[in-house]
Amino acid sequence: MSGRRTLRLGLAAYGTGWDLDAWRLPEATSSGLRDPSVILDTARTAERGKLDYVFAGSALGSEPDRLNRIFRWDNFVYAGHAAAITKNLGFVMSVNSSFEHPYSVARQLATLDNFNGGRTALNVVFGIDRDGDPVGNYGKNPVPTEETKYARAREFTTVVNRLLYESWDDDFLLDDRAGGTLVRPGSWHQVDFHGEHFDVRGPLNVPPPVQRHIPVVQVGLSEESLRYGADFAQVRFSPYFGISRGKEEYRRLKERVAANGRDPEKFKIIPGITFYLAGTVREARAKFNEINSLQLEQELPAVFSRALGIDLSRVRDSERVLDVVDIEKIADDALGPLTGDRARDVKNGGELLGRILATQIGEDATLRDLYHYVQRSRHEQQPAVVGDARAIADWLEENFEEEVLDGVQLFPPYHRGPADLFVDLVVPELRRRGIFRTEYEASTLQGLLDTDDV
Ligand SMILES: Cc1cc2nc3c(=O)[nH]c(=O)nc-3n(C[C@H](O)[C@H](O)[C@H](O)COP(=O)(O)O)c2cc1C
Repeated sequence: MSGRRTLRLGLAAYGTGWDLDAWRLPEATSSGLRDPSVILDTARTAERGKLDYVFAGSALGSEPDRLNRIFRWDNFVYAGHAAAITKNLGFVMSVNSSFEHPYSVARQLATLDNFNGGRTALNVVFGIDRDGDPVGNYGKNPVPTEETKYARAREFTTVVNRLLYESWDDDFLLDDRAGGTLVRPGSWHQVDFHGEHFDVRGPLNVPPPVQRHIPVVQVGLSEESLRYGADFAQVRFSPYFGISRGKEEYRRLKERVAANGRDPEKFKIIPGITFYLAGTVREARAKFNEINSLQLEQELPAVFSRALGIDLSRVRDSERVLDVVDIEKIADDALGPLTGDRARDVKNGGELLGRILATQIGEDATLRDLYHYVQRSRHEQQPAVVGDARAIADWLEENFEEEVLDGVQLFPPYHRGPADLFVDLVVPELRRRGIFRTEYEASTLQGLLDTDDV
């Protein structure tokens, strides 16, 4: 396949899958909440399909009422364990630069990359006001504001990179037993970083990573996030914008990377999709409809209390939004992160809700109508692709050939079953079309993703 552009495929490793409701299917298991073997199997499945990596987001809040999201395994512990049962698969480690410290993270990354032989990537997320209120868990640590979170993310990434790549020369090990000198004099360096957010002396007390440059992945919706990506990242986990706007966003981002003097082909744009796959299109649609019909009445008040930043726990979903929600009281950044409207520069939550009611779902809309709007918008950012293997391969091929994306992050709606079905049915179809690898062509994740060293 040399010379031809090929897809990158990542698989999300969430214990009970991505769909909030699909765990209620009779064939689904919720045991992954408690039983790590479910996501260890996800890693095995990903490697069986010769996928690029497995990944899970960063979640530092507490959400005991969040159905299948109540528990989130620690990513590094998971990856350390899963590396031992795989040989080529990569591991994308999501880390929140607003809460975590770069010295600890550099230690974790360097340790993991040595243990797994160069199969690590770092996904930097920045979210402060996230589900489950992480500030409530990390309150005494200095937490940045919306205005300062990107400055902190920039410092964070700079410090991580300097610790990883500047602490030790490659030939640090002298091992002079007769002379009693283990480490070559002058082969280590303090990084002596002093910034607004971090003071780090160094050097790192873990050997340098196996990879020349651990790929940095980034997310976000704002202009700031795009600037950060062009300066620091090799991969963007992007929202999905549809074909025509997606092509435009893809081209603009690649141009931005090129303007930084970098090779745009080495920068990969990878949105997420949830896939609903079955042997026939009809079966897949039936399953998708069955899952949608499972949406929980009792979940709505919790969803909206979180989304709007006001307590709606005693409100019924059939009530009119404007009867139960005081628009003035809505949190400033409410709804936007859920619907993606932040991307269109709507900053005020009350104004955004007013606009959604006026232009999308009507002034008489109920909470349930608003819920469906939010769900639809989430599907727009991370589409639900429903069909048989051919239909899903068609969707992937079209978006890939149109240069909307360089790969996708696959979110199985539930376990067990869908991830294996993807590997058994869709991967061979992609190979037949010549757009996915038949063998692992590199031993490091940087090699598989084909990313640069910025
Ligand atoms: C596709 C995507 C995935 C994200 N994943 C996470 C995540 O796993 N954990 C997290 O704390 N924030 C996550 N975020 C939130 C971003 O880190 C960021 O805080 C948010 O988009 C707001 O930043 P912005 O103002 O640049 O858009 C994600 C955002 C996007 C668009």
